[in-house]
Amino acid sequence: MTANTPPRTFHVKSFGCQMNVYDGERMAELLVADGMTAVDERETADLVVLNTCHIREKATEKVYSDIGRLRREDGSTPLIAVAGCVAQAEGAEIMARAPQVRVVVGPQAYHRLPEMVASAATGARETETDMPAEAKFAALPKRRKSTPTAFLTIQEGCDKFCTYCVVPYTRGAEIARPFADLVDEAKALVDGGAREITLLGQNVNAWAGENAVGQAIGLAGLAHELARISDLARIRYTTSHPADMDDALIEAHGSNAKLMPFLHLPVQSGNDRVLRAMNRSHSAEGYLKIIERVRAGRPDIALSGDFIVGFPGETEAEFADSLALIDAVGYAQAFSFKYSPRPGTPAATMDGQIAAEVMDDRLQRLMAHINRDQLAFNRASVGKRCTVLVERRGRQPGQWLGKSPWLQSVHFTDEANIGDLVEIDLIDAGPNSLAGRRVG
Ligand code: 5AD
Ligand code: SF4
Repeated sequence: MTANTPPRTFHVKSFGCQMNVYDGERMAELLVADGMTAVDERETADLVVLNTCHIREKATEKVYSDIGRLRREDGSTPLIAVAGCVAQAEGAEIMARAPQVRVVVGPQAYHRLPEMVASAATGARETETDMPAEAKFAALPKRRKSTPTAFLTIQEGCDKFCTYCVVPYTRGAEIARPFADLVDEAKALVDGGAREITLLGQNVNAWAGENAVGQAIGLAGLAHELARISDLARIRYTTSHPADMDDALIEAHGSNAKLMPFLHLPVQSGNDRVLRAMNRSHSAEGYLKIIERVRAGRPDIALSGDFIVGFPGETEAEFADSLALIDAVGYAQAFSFKYSPRPGTPAATMDGQIAAEVMDDRLQRLMAHINRDQLAFNRASVGKRCTVLVERRGRQPGQWLGKSPWLQSVHFTDEANIGDLVEIDLIDAGPNSLAGRRVG
């Protein structure tokens, strides 16, 4: 592309959480609505959007190496736009450090991407990191096509201020999208081919709104209303905070048949002193009580969590409490992270920062417990019959890949189509997937 030529093709590369994936899809839809064409390879795209993540250090470092790698063999670069949470947190620094970046746009302002790109194509450099989240959603085009599994952002931002976390700074205050907009978007996704919708939010279970008759409802009520969309077969949600697991939501896991038996409920640590230092507003026991109540209503529910090892001041005995909590829950899967000091967060300047070797060792030990339980959960599924939503082709000839209700990857080789919900007998289990056979 030469200077002053408006870009015709684009490539969006998203890092980080599922909400970033959702944002990446919406940015692509905006650019298509603006007359541009999406291409699979960034090497041939006139415009490359790097949709970045700021949650941990490694994610941030990646941005600068990625910008560097966009230089092509002939020395040219595409028009580069940096979006997402690094853009929000470090927009000015990116503009100063990387002169080849022409556009910096934060997660609440990307509805302005097309006009910013147009302006950048005439030689300007554009930065927008304002945070009017409602304005963004109102400005996005109607959704048309969808994959069988779709994301729908219902809530954004965070008011909880866990002391390690950048999200309240990069995504701003908690906002809930209005009920009617969500029903419209869900219907559009289902009309476009979605059979499963994952409701997204940094604190998705803090969503609150009013239904069509003006009743105050929470996430359980929203899931109940969405379940009335007949061609929508499955509803999931992520990520939840223990403080917002209200009675209605716990109850919904036992009563809403379309709400899948899976709950991602981060706890971060099994030790109450560490939880307090993290400003988590719940104890280890309070967390376990919630799990117990969810299981009482839905005994087969698969549980997932997030853990941070090496939070400032974490002693060996406090770390051992995290292992004990894992043993008590028996997770179907879980994510674990080494604590990463994020600029501007309270924990980054706390005393007792933990040495890298100690963190490595704790992460290995914690992951061993999680992996053990994940394999056990998968093995315990062998012999069950369940519905699998077919998502894509597998690597072996004739193979299909899909998800069980418990979010396990399942592969099988019988006849099927993408988007089918098929009855499967689970016949074998590994640490990361299960083998199945179609019933009949
Ligand atoms: N360091 C390490 N892990 C973090 N997370 C969030 N912030 C940090 C940090 N500074 C983890 C938490 C959260 C998940 C999305 O990322 O476990 O639940
Ligand atoms: Fe990363 Fe958090 Fe931003 Fe998601 S919201 S992209 S996890 S920093």
